[in-house]
Amino acid sequence: MDTLQIVPAWSATEGARRASELFETTFQGTADGVWASPGRVNIIGEHTDYNGGLCLPIALPHRTYVALRRRSDDEVHLASAFEGDVLHWDGRLSDLQPGTVPSWVGYVGGMAWSFGRDEITVTGFDATLTSCVPTAAGLSSSAAVECAVGLALDEVNGFGLGGSDEGRAQLVTVAVRTENDFVGARTGDLDQSASLRTHEGHALLLDCLDGSTRQVPFDLDAQNLELLVIDTRATHSHATGAYGQRRATCEAAATLLGVETLREITDLDAALARISDEEMARRVRHVVTEIQRVRDFVALVEAGRLLDVGPLMNASHDSLRDDYEVTCPELDVAVDAARSAGAIGARMTGGGFGGCAIALVDAEKRDDVAAAAVAAFAEHGFAAPRLYAAIPSAAGSRIS
Ligand code: GLA
Repeated sequence: MDTLQIVPAWSATEGARRASELFETTFQGTADGVWASPGRVNIIGEHTDYNGGLCLPIALPHRTYVALRRRSDDEVHLASAFEGDVLHWDGRLSDLQPGTVPSWVGYVGGMAWSFGRDEITVTGFDATLTSCVPTAAGLSSSAAVECAVGLALDEVNGFGLGGSDEGRAQLVTVAVRTENDFVGARTGDLDQSASLRTHEGHALLLDCLDGSTRQVPFDLDAQNLELLVIDTRATHSHATGAYGQRRATCEAAATLLGVETLREITDLDAALARISDEEMARRVRHVVTEIQRVRDFVALVEAGRLLDVGPLMNASHDSLRDDYEVTCPELDVAVDAARSAGAIGARMTGGGFGGCAIALVDAEKRDDVAAAAVAAFAEHGFAAPRLYAAIPSAAGSRIS
């Protein structure tokens, strides 16, 4: 059945070929190299990153590919082929200022600007971009662009950041600044950390308070499990509105409670007793309980009990639906359908308000769960969901 097709990722060879061919036809000559960086799925720990909390992403096999050549002047020439359309931009490094360029240019050129904030000067460059990370699906396609461009600019300018985890953590900061201050989306550092600091076959336990990480072996195959991604195709955007409001509420709650971040709350009941605003109290309860769910999830995985994580995934979704209020009908229908069809656990992933749900399933049950989601969407009159397999993949790197 066509609708049950799991959309595959490009191989590295295929992605590099596409980016290089676009480079050769656009700019003549060849690029200095091709770099790629992945989208992500966050397994648990949602809306915790900007609260100094914990999250647990994996990198997807779906990547953005950048072919890039250093220039000796300050010109920047870009071509991007996303979902068929080829877009061009030509200008100078000094033209790359927040609010002055089209949004797709912001993710690319904003990296050059952001390096500059650290007094790291990049030269001009020619670059082509192409990607198989689904866009506007909450799988961090924008972070994949920033991180692939960051790795490329790092290497052609000889900064040497991409070669170590410490250097990559610095690249994460550069990319988050692009997102926050150039593009104007006040997100945390989950997405860029997932794209640059993950290891193949592992989930990344990221502590957003101090930036420390732990690689958590996440071997789905060994337990005959799969992580199915159900892309609701409901519109999702973080640059405006509700995401920013959630963050502002958390910051106001932290101020009220006299803490730097909600991570510092150790006695939830005592904290809640001090918050008279009922909505703020629910937001705080989500963040504090979600951070604990990440701890509990990692403890189970490290004890070899992956089969027991379902209730934590389900509780995470329910908290995001009822307390944090960032789900939407499509996400709730996807999650309910997956659970009813026998998923071990299911939840939304990413920022919410649309985007993707994930379902942890026995490999034999994957098609049943996928079919149940497709049928439930048809029943509710929603567009058919897209389906992906989340295979814990490697962080961004040079491909050729
Ligand atoms: C988006 C943001 C992240 C994070 C998640 C929610 O993906 O980009 O920084 O806040 O939402 O966990």
